[in-house]
Amino acid sequence: MLVTFFSARPYDEQTFVEANRDGRHQLRFLTPRLSADTVLLAAGSEAICAFVNDTLDRPVLERLAAGGTRLVALRCAGFNNVDLAAAADVGLPVVRVPAYSPHAVAEHTFALILALNRRIHRAYNRVREGNFALDHLVGVDLHGKTIGVIGTGLIGRVVVDIARGFGMRVLAHDPSPDAGVLAAGATYTDVADLLSESDVVTLHCPLVPATFHLIDADALGRMRPGAMLVNTSRGALVDTQAVVAALKSRHLGSLGIDVYEEEASLFFEDRSSGGIDDDIFARLVTFPNVLVTGHQGFLTREALAAIASTTLASIDAFEAGRPLEHAVPLPAV
Ligand code: NAI
Repeated sequence: MLVTFFSARPYDEQTFVEANRDGRHQLRFLTPRLSADTVLLAAGSEAICAFVNDTLDRPVLERLAAGGTRLVALRCAGFNNVDLAAAADVGLPVVRVPAYSPHAVAEHTFALILALNRRIHRAYNRVREGNFALDHLVGVDLHGKTIGVIGTGLIGRVVVDIARGFGMRVLAHDPSPDAGVLAAGATYTDVADLLSESDVVTLHCPLVPATFHLIDADALGRMRPGAMLVNTSRGALVDTQAVVAALKSRHLGSLGIDVYEEEASLFFEDRSSGGIDDDIFARLVTFPNVLVTGHQGFLTREALAAIASTTLASIDAFEAGRPLEHAVPLPAV
C-alpha cells in the first residue's frame, strides 16, 4: 500500500523503513504538517500516517476520502486531533498505537521531576560558565514526599511504580481504579484531596472534554504552596495562563511540561532563528523554576520501534481485510 506520512522526521523514517524492510508497503515521508493546506499531498495514497499535531478535522478528512485515502493511521496514542464524527461520516477508519513503551513517557516524567527538584537545568549552565556556587540549588528528598498521579492507565501505573521506588507516598485519581496500582501501595482519592495533599502533581489522563483545563486557577489554588506540577500528557489539560499567574504569585513551586496547549504552532521545528511569537509560552520559559521539553516523552528507541511495528501491522490488517485491532471507535452514522 502507498502510505503518506505527514510531520515525518528522520527518526520516523529510520524506524519505519527498518520495520518495512521487506518493502511490502510503499512509504512516502513528508515533513509538512497535515492541514487543509497540505492535504492535497496525500493524493493517491491509500493510507496516511499522522502524528499528534496533524489536523484531522472535517474538511481535511473529507478531502482525504475524496482523494482516495481509505485509512488514517495515527502513530501516537492520543486521538484528540481527529474529528471522529467526520471520520465516521466519510467512512475513514482510524487506527492508533494505544501502547508503546509506557516506560518512555513515565521515565521522562521523572526526568522532569528530578531535574526540577535538584535544579539540574540551572546547575548544568552554571558549571559550563565556571560558576560552582550552590545558592538557589537546594532541593528536597523525594523520599517520603507525596506525589499525586491523575490517570493511572498504562503510563500512570509505571509512574506509580517509579514513585514507590523512590519511597514516595502515592495518591491517585482515576474514574477506573486499577487493582495493580492499589497493590503497589497507592491510595485512590478525589482530585481535590489529591491536589491539596501532594508535593508533586503529575497528569496522565487523556484530553477529553471532561479533562480540558483540568488544572485551572481553582485547581492551582488547591495545590500546596510550593508544589510541583508536571504534564507529559496533553497540553490543554492545563490552563497555561492560570499557571503563569500561579508562578508569578510564587504559589506554584515549579512546572515541568513536555506538552503545551498551543504546541502545534511551536514544537517539532527549529525556531531558534525566527523567534517565538507566542507571548504566553515566551513568558513561561523565563521562569527559572519551569522546565519545558518539546513533546519528546515518547522518544526512545524502544517506543519508536513499537510505534512503527504496530502501525504497519494495522496497515497489513487493513490491506488483508482483517479486523483492525487498534481502531479508534467511531460514532455510529
Ligand atoms: P491510558 O488510556 O492507558 O490511561 C489513561 C487513564 O486516564 C485511564 O486509566 C483513564 O481511566 C484515566 N482517565 C480518564 N479520564 C480521567 C479523569 N477525568 N481523571 C483521571 N483519570 C482519567 O493512556 P496512557 O497510554 O497512559 O496515556 C496517558 C496520556 O499520555 C495520554 O493523554 C496520552 O496522550 C499521553 N501521551 C503522551 C506522550 C508524550 O510523548 N508526551 C506519549 C504517549 C502518550
